[in-house]
Amino acid sequence: MRLDVFTLFPDHFGWFLGQRHVTNLLDRGSEIRLFDYRETTPLSAGQVDDAPYGGGAGMVMRVDVVDAALEAAYGSDRSSVEILALSPQGRVFEEVTAVELSGIDHLALLCGRYEGFDERVIEHLVDGSVSIGRFVLSGGELAAMVVADAVLRKLPGALGDESSPIEESFSEALGGAPEYPHYTRPATYRDWPVPEILLSGDHGAVRDWRLAESRDRAGRDPA
Ligand code: ADE
Repeated sequence: MRLDVFTLFPDHFGWFLGQRHVTNLLDRGSEIRLFDYRETTPLSAGQVDDAPYGGGAGMVMRVDVVDAALEAAYGSDRSSVEILALSPQGRVFEEVTAVELSGIDHLALLCGRYEGFDERVIEHLVDGSVSIGRFVLSGGELAAMVVADAVLRKLPGALGDESSPIEESFSEALGGAPEYPHYTRPATYRDWPVPEILLSGDHGAVRDWRLAESRDRAGRDPA
């Protein structure tokens, strides 16, 4: 996958780019590029935002600045890139969205700041917008890392042999339900024993128990 992130704070991604599943993918030929809006802004003194028309608090990312950044990266034909803006008003990101996006060859994530983007960015420059939940962050950077993390770990080679993104919470394998509980040694800690079935060695029974637990979790509110 080619993943491009447009941001005012490229250095915020240093930690993320060092994560094992990300470096695994970079080693296997995936590419992650960071674009700083300030480097391509057509305005003087690195300006990227402006006061909202109609008044109100905060600053709004300018449409000409975002367009210039996209133009510098892709030119005027952007048809081969899926461009998504991070915005609290976007489509709420879920596991199915992660699966969907993991099938895209070239994905661009646009981080906003301040009061978000001029609405013409959403209307004319992007293919969609994504929210990581019904709350407001100070900017799109953390949201972009959340989306990128959930998407990239789906790609072959991201995770080590021991972990599999096939059967986990909300996956198709579990019918979209939360994953079943896991336990490891010690078998008893204080007076908290591991469910006996897991120590039985009966793989069929363990499987049935896990699926039942997963279904059960789907039917109740998370603790
Ligand atoms: N930017 C600010 N808040 C956000 C959210 N909840 N999701 C995506 N981008 C955001």
